[in-house]
Amino acid sequence: MRYNVLADEPLPEEIMDMIGADCQVRVWLAGGPDAEALRATEGLFTYGHLIVDGTLMGRMPNLKVISNFGVGVDHIDLVAARQRGVPVGNTPHVLDGATADMTFALLLAAARNLVPGDRYARSASFTHYDPSILLGQAVGGAMLGIIGMGNIGLQVARRARGFDMTVLYHNRRRNPQAEAELSVSYVTLPELLSRADFVTLNVPLTPETRAMIGRDELAQMKPTAILINLARGGVIDHAALVEALENGEIAGAALDVTAPEPLPRDHPLLRMDNVIITPHLGSATRQARHAMAQISVDNLKAGLRGSALPARIA
Ligand code: DGY
Repeated sequence: MRYNVLADEPLPEEIMDMIGADCQVRVWLAGGPDAEALRATEGLFTYGHLIVDGTLMGRMPNLKVISNFGVGVDHIDLVAARQRGVPVGNTPHVLDGATADMTFALLLAAARNLVPGDRYARSASFTHYDPSILLGQAVGGAMLGIIGMGNIGLQVARRARGFDMTVLYHNRRRNPQAEAELSVSYVTLPELLSRADFVTLNVPLTPETRAMIGRDELAQMKPTAILINLARGGVIDHAALVEALENGEIAGAALDVTAPEPLPRDHPLLRMDNVIITPHLGSATRQARHAMAQISVDNLKAGLRGSALPARIA
């Protein structure tokens, strides 16, 4: 007998091979699966960010496990899953380093005009070396404010040491390990915002963090500061961000995630020269994605067999 698995996107061959022949994998196509396919589903594998709410779970009475390819589970109603006794797995730890690397890639790119510089160097306007163009901001020795000192924030702080940065952080709880190992200082959110040259968002999206960076918070930042978001788009009020960038309240933003994702093609953020947008690449290294594949498939298979999930979030 084969287990019935539903995937929200077509899965790469690597993951299909890991899932193996004892599962029959159906893919959520446009319009969604029919009632019978949902009824039969025993394992739900979320590869993209399908919204999995209580209503959807209610249509899957045979559901034994939800396995998420990724650490962030804001698209899954964990309370509803718990109420139904359906375990939810995610992929913690293996993507921390990759996401911290990407935080720094965006920080450096925004600080040093990498994207406009690349465009200019390819254009016909680049006729000679001009020492007065595209001057950026120093990263070495600057003040970094990390919002979210979890596993990823910790890795960002480690990397900041190599750049001789002074690191402030804000988190729901203080992180004594980070303070002792990395000499980072806990401060209130207003203090972090008003002192940092670079502010990175490395928090999960929860009711507490939704729109935590709005008009008031942006107004507290330095006009020279750059905001970097590797968390979820919903952490920033995008209308307030557009205003702050237009009014010169902050110098720039680098966004790996947006809300919605992707932004509508006529969104003002897409036209701004002081904004970098990447398509949710935080954990996109071959190594991290391979490890995420392994953990998410292990979670799926454990749940189907009724065993404990190796990485259970709810
Ligand atoms: C994560 O792991 O949460 C990434 O953003 C991919 O979903």
